[in-house]
Amino acid sequence: MIVAIDGPAGAGKSTVARRLAERLGFRYLDTGAMYRALTWLAMRDAIPLDQGLRLGELARDHPVELDENGRVTIAGSDVTAGIRQARIDRLVPVVARHNEVRTVMRERQRDLAELGNAVIEGRDIGTVVAPDAEVKIYLVADRKVRAERRLAERPDIGADALATDLRMRDESDAARMQPADDAEVIDTSELDVEDVVSRIEALVRAHSPA
Ligand code: DC
Repeated sequence: MIVAIDGPAGAGKSTVARRLAERLGFRYLDTGAMYRALTWLAMRDAIPLDQGLRLGELARDHPVELDENGRVTIAGSDVTAGIRQARIDRLVPVVARHNEVRTVMRERQRDLAELGNAVIEGRDIGTVVAPDAEVKIYLVADRKVRAERRLAERPDIGADALATDLRMRDESDAARMQPADDAEVIDTSELDVEDVVSRIEALVRAHSPA
């Protein structure tokens, strides 16, 4: 069974997806971390971020590894902390928009999905990566709430800069951020994590054989 969790930055995807995977005993797959790790590597190797072909080759040559403890590795480097820097937040949409990059990432994400029982978090999971996912969730939240959540994660940045970053990321991610027609849209602005997780868990249980 695949549970796809999509939605914009700050809608609560990571917290909800991780917690849900824990409750269900499923694997948790953070596809954003894969785009982030590639961005980290491209910067380390000084590859211009407008060169889709080269970035696609880089992605193919250096598969991102995600372990069950949430550690993210690429090209032999542990980038778990490095990919959460504000610099990566700003640059990852530039890398993620190249088709050459998306093709490689999506292939790998599909391979991982085929192993079964996973909660997969991203932007295009229910629409493109796993259109046959049994449960599709699209999380949304007010932009103000999303900015506050980002601020809690990145206290060093400042509220104004964060709000601007969020707006820019929303714009550049927009083309990939349509909910699947059959996704359940949940507004998390006023819900706490456990409530959201319980709602999704109920949908999952309704799909499982008794
Ligand atoms: O969810 P996140 O903030 O870690 O995602 C990082 C970036 O990667 C974000 O700009 C959107 C992009 N992304 C994507 O294009 N497709 C995905 N499946 C996951 C993330």
